[in-house]
Amino acid sequence: MAEKESSPGGQKMYIPISLLWLVSIPLLSSVNSLPTPRGTLITCGASNAIASGDLKYVPDDGFTKVGNKATISAPNVMPILRNLRFFPDKSARKYCYAVPVVKGGKYLVRTSYYYGGFDGGTTPPVFDQIIDGTMWGTVNTTDDYSNGLTSYYELVIAAMGKFMSVCLARNSATVSDPFISLLEVEYLDESVYNSTDFKTYALGTVSRAIFGDTDSTISYPEDQYNRYWHPFKDENPTVESKSGVKMLSFWNMPPVSAFSSALTTSRGKNLKVKWPQGSLPESLYYISLYFQDSRTESPYSWRVFDIWVNGKKFYSNLNVTADGVSVFAAQWPLFGQTEIEMTPGDGIPVGPLINAGEVLQLLPLGGRTHTRDVMAMDDLTQTLDKLPSDWYGDPCLPKNHSWTGVTCSYGKLVRILALNFTGMGLSGSLPSSLGNLTSLTHLWLGGNKLSGNIPDMSSATELKSLHLENNQFEGPVPDWLGELHKIQEIFLQNNKLTGGIPKNLHNRSGLNIQTEEGSSATLYRSKRAPSSIAMEVLPAPCTSNPTGQPSRLFSPPFDHGSHCLHNLSAPTSPAGSVPFNCEEKPRVPKYLATPGKVDVAAEEDFELSLVSSWI
Ligand SMILES: *[C@@H]1O[C@H](CO)[C@@H](O)[C@H](O)[C@H]1NC(C)=O
Ligand SMILES: *[C@@H]1O[C@H](CO)[C@@H](O)[C@H](O)[C@H]1NC(C)=O
Ligand SMILES: *[C@@H]1O[C@H](CO)[C@@H](O)[C@H](O)[C@H]1NC(C)=O
Ligand SMILES: *[C@@H]1O[C@H](CO)[C@@H](O)[C@H](O)[C@H]1NC(C)=O
Ligand SMILES: *[C@@H]1O[C@H](CO)[C@@H](O)[C@H](O)[C@H]1NC(C)=O
Ligand SMILES: *[C@@H]1O[C@H](CO)[C@@H](O)[C@H](O)[C@H]1NC(C)=O
Ligand SMILES: *[C@@H]1O[C@H](CO)[C@@H](O)[C@H](O)[C@H]1NC(C)=O
Ligand SMILES: *[C@@H]1O[C@H](CO)[C@@H](O)[C@H](O)[C@H]1NC(C)=O
Repeated sequence: MAEKESSPGGQKMYIPISLLWLVSIPLLSSVNSLPTPRGTLITCGASNAIASGDLKYVPDDGFTKVGNKATISAPNVMPILRNLRFFPDKSARKYCYAVPVVKGGKYLVRTSYYYGGFDGGTTPPVFDQIIDGTMWGTVNTTDDYSNGLTSYYELVIAAMGKFMSVCLARNSATVSDPFISLLEVEYLDESVYNSTDFKTYALGTVSRAIFGDTDSTISYPEDQYNRYWHPFKDENPTVESKSGVKMLSFWNMPPVSAFSSALTTSRGKNLKVKWPQGSLPESLYYISLYFQDSRTESPYSWRVFDIWVNGKKFYSNLNVTADGVSVFAAQWPLFGQTEIEMTPGDGIPVGPLINAGEVLQLLPLGGRTHTRDVMAMDDLTQTLDKLPSDWYGDPCLPKNHSWTGVTCSYGKLVRILALNFTGMGLSGSLPSSLGNLTSLTHLWLGGNKLSGNIPDMSSATELKSLHLENNQFEGPVPDWLGELHKIQEIFLQNNKLTGGIPKNLHNRSGLNIQTEEGSSATLYRSKRAPSSIAMEVLPAPCTSNPTGQPSRLFSPPFDHGSHCLHNLSAPTSPAGSVPFNCEEKPRVPKYLATPGKVDVAAEEDFELSLVSSWI
C-alpha cells in the first residue's frame, strides 16, 4: 500500500483564511489533450467552441445570463483566452455561472483570468470569487498580468446540488468591471483527496509541484483530471527516475510523469526543500508528498527517511521503493514559508529524495441556505420573469451577496426573512411552494406585473407584512390571511381580486389593511358594543351597504368623509364580503350608526378605540 497518512504533530490550529494562493500558468502554454470525459470546459465570452490541444472548450452562453462579451486585441494570446466575459452592472450582488454537476460529486473547479486590457485600461480589476454559498477569495491578477501571465484559481469542492454556481462579485477594491476568461469544472474520482470532509471544507490549491530539473508543466492527458503540476527546482541536485511507479496504488492519481524526476541530496545528508514558494497564510492545509526510489527496480532499490514539515515530524521511517509511495496529512497547520526536510535513516546508502507534492488549503464552506427555502426560491425563479441578474447560486450566501431583494437570517439555519421585490418589473405568477418560506416575515411584491392567484401561504406563519398591491393578481382574497396571526399589514389594492377580507381578520388588533385604490378605511371598534366595528372610509362616495353582494370589500366606493358600520355578527355573503351600513355625513367616527337602527351614538355612548387601521 502506497498511501500513508501522517499523524500531524503539534496542536491543530483553525484560522479561516479565505484568500487563496495565487499560482500562475504561462500565457502561451498550450494544454495538449483530449476532451475530458466528465468535465465542463468553458471559454468565457467566446462565440464558438475552441480547441486547445486535445481539449474542447465550449462558449459560455448556456451557463450564464449576465455580463457582456469582449475580445482581447493583444497578439499571441492563446485562442481560449482571447475572449472574456465582463460584468458592468454595478447593482448586482454577484455575477454567476451555473454549471451542471452530479450532486455529491467531487469537482476540481478552476477559474482563469487574462485581462488583456479589454476595457482599454492598463490594470486588471480586483474582485471576489464565490462558489455556491462560499466566499472563495479575492482575484488579484495585477502581478501576473504585468508579467504577461494568466492567473488561475483552483479548488476541490463537492457539488451540493445539480448545479454548481461560480460567481464573481465586486468588493471595496473593485474599480473597473470584473471579468473571467475560463471556467473549468472536472469530476474527480472517489479516492482523490478523500481524506477531506467535503461537507465542511473545500480544498484550495496552493501548489502542485513536480520536483527536479524539468521545465514543462504536466497537465492533461498525463493528468486525467487536467490538474497542473508545475516544475519546482532549487539548489538541490536532480535525479531522474529509472523505473515506473505502480499508479493504481495512489489514491490521488498523480500522473506517472510526476515521478520522472526528483530533488535529492547526497548520502547521509538532510534534504531541505523550501516549498511551496512564498509565505502562506496561517491556516490548515492538506499536504500530499510523492516519492519513488530513482534506481532501477531491484531488491535493493529502497531507501528509508523521516519527513519533517517546519520542524515537526510529518512521517517516520518512510520506506521509499521503486514502486513509489505517497504520504499525506489531511489537516496540517502551516504559516509563512514552509520547509520540507527529509532526514535519512541510519546506514541508508543513498540520500533522501522527493518527486512531487501538493499543498491545498482547507477552506471552510460557507454553508447553504435551508433547503426548503432554496427550493421555494428555485420555484420562484421558474414562475417569475424578468428576474434580477443576480438571482443565481445561493439566495442568502455568502453573507453580503444574497440575491437582490432577499434578506436572510444567519443563525444555525440560514433562512429567508424577507423578500422585497417592490417595483422590480417582475412578471409571471407565484408558485404554490412560496408558503414553504416558513421564516418569512415580510413579503413585498408591490408594483410589479404579477398575475394569477395568490398561493396558499398559511404556513408562512411568521408573516408580518404582505404587500401585493399594484399587480394583476386575480381570484378571491384568500381566506388563509386570517390564519396569519402575526400579520400587521396587508396591501392588496389595485389588483383583480374579488371577495371580502376574511372574517377572522376583522377584529385583528393593529391590522393595517388596504384594498382598493381610493377607498381606504380606518376601522374602529366600539367598547360598548364590541360586536360592531365602525369604519371610516376615505375618500370615495358612500352609498348604501352592498350587503351580501359578492364584491371587493369596499366596493362600491364610499364617499369621502363617510362612515360605515360593520356588524361583525351579521352573516357574510358566500363570497365572503361583509355588510356595511354607511352614513353620509359625520366625519368623526364618534358619530356612528348601528346597522338597521340609524342611531347616531352620543359621544359618551360610543367610546371608541382603534382596533385596526385600514389605510
Ligand atoms: C493587487 O496586487 C498588487 C500586486 O501584488 C498589489 O500591489 C495591490 O495592492 C493588490 N490590490 C488589492 C486591491 O489588493
Ligand atoms: C480513500 O480511497 C481509498 C482507495 O479507494 C480507500 O482505500 C480509502 O478507504 C478511502 N478513504 C476514505 C476516508 O474514504
Ligand atoms: C523497505 O521495503 C523493501 C521492499 O518492500 C524491503 O525489502 C525492505 O526490507 C524495507 N526496508 C525496511 C527498513 O523496512
Ligand atoms: C458585509 O457588509 C457589512 C455591512 O455592509 C460590512 O461591514 C462587512 O465588512 C461585509 N463583509 C464582507 C465579508 O464583505
Ligand atoms: C421594500 O422596498 C421598498 C422600495 O425599495 C422600500 O420602500 C420598503 O421600505 C422596503 N420594505 C421593507 C420591508 O424593507
Ligand atoms: C413545498 O411546497 C410544495 C408545493 O406546495 C410541496 O409539495 C412541498 O412538499 C413543499 N416542500 C417542503 C420541503 O415543504
Ligand atoms: C375576535 O377576537 C376574539 C378574541 O381576541 C376571538 O375569540 C374571536 O374569534 C375574534 N373574532 C373574529 C371574528 O375573528
Ligand atoms: C348584528 O347582526 C346580528 C345578526 O344579523 C344581529 O342579531 C345584531 O342585532 C346586530 N347587531 C347590531 C348592533 O345591530
